[in-house]
Amino acid sequence: MMAFVTLIFTFFIISSFSQANPIASLPQPNQSFNPNQILNQNQGRSCSYTVNIKTSCSSPSQTRDQISLAFGDAYGYQVYAPRLDDPYSRTFERCSTDTFQIKGPCTYPICYLYLYRRGYDGWVPESVTVSSYNYRPVSFYYNTGIPYGVWYGFDYCHGSSASTSTM
Ligand SMILES: *[C@@H]1O[C@H](CO)[C@@H](O)[C@H](O)[C@H]1NC(C)=O
Repeated sequence: MMAFVTLIFTFFIISSFSQANPIASLPQPNQSFNPNQILNQNQGRSCSYTVNIKTSCSSPSQTRDQISLAFGDAYGYQVYAPRLDDPYSRTFERCSTDTFQIKGPCTYPICYLYLYRRGYDGWVPESVTVSSYNYRPVSFYYNTGIPYGVWYGFDYCHGSSASTSTM
């Protein structure tokens, strides 16, 4: 009986996770993500993105970590910023928000975003918000440190039906 009750509870927990707003779920490492392998970029057109990155108040007061960013849509259009860090302009200080203007191919609605960190300071992001001309701003909430040297973030491009079929 106890096992049955546990099973029911487990089922409710899993189904409530799968129905939660995906933007509110936890960031994950993605070992197979590589921003250089995307070939389907429309090089001829260029769109401008405003990216707001909020640094957590639990981050070090300053950081020399190297930070990269990549985001894109479900059709292979990707925006890649190899380096956002700049300790001389006090980027990514504790509790601060940094704004970047990034140019890249014009995307459909953004459904994935990854950060990449190298360095020994252990910079901690709170959130990343991407705004573009065509679509509503989309926010990704980290609130956690990023492991060294792995693309770490969110991929919702395949929707809840894809995650259900893998279970
Ligand atoms: C990791 O990235 C690859 C390449 O973009 C993508 O196809 C895959 O769905 C991602 N994996 C997860 C778990 O999000």
